[in-house]
Amino acid sequence: MTVDYKTVEASYDRCLENDAFYDTFYDKFLAKSEEIPPLFAETDFRKQKQMIRMSVRMMVRLGAGEEGTKVAIRNLGESHSRRHHNIRAGLYDLWLDALCESIAECDPEYTPELEQLWRDTMRAGIEMMIAMY
Ligand code: HEM
Repeated sequence: MTVDYKTVEASYDRCLENDAFYDTFYDKFLAKSEEIPPLFAETDFRKQKQMIRMSVRMMVRLGAGEEGTKVAIRNLGESHSRRHHNIRAGLYDLWLDALCESIAECDPEYTPELEQLWRDTMRAGIEMMIAMY
């Protein structure tokens, strides 16, 4: 399925105009399951928020078929596999829900249709990461 990644990227840019976007995201994500906060017990969130910011853009651009994005997402898949962060597949659903809830709060042009586009766009990258678990 071809996803309209430019519409999604424009939404992402609006979200990032709000400096609290990734504070909102991590507040929501860490509250989704008791399993999650211990995984981030030693995390430097200032750095983490910079890295996630870039990697979500990669996930969006993956929809455009840019070759470099595949390499970047494969590296992320490796770091999240059982050999490293050990992130089981079910946690990605919570991650995507937290992302979409943050978009709903931060993008003034949010609609349920836009959320569906986001979900379709992120699915390819998430599936690549899960496949490397
Ligand atoms: C598609 C979804 C995700 C993206 C784009 C993403 C992105 C990132 C990035 C860029 C990093 C830092 C670089 C690295 O360690 O590779 C990272 C680290 C991490 N991620 Fe994810 N992640 C995703 C899903 C998840 C999920 C579902 C979990 C589950 C709890 C998770 C837990 C972690 C942990 C524990 C770290 C290490 C934090 C630390 O260094 O202390 N991630 N993630």
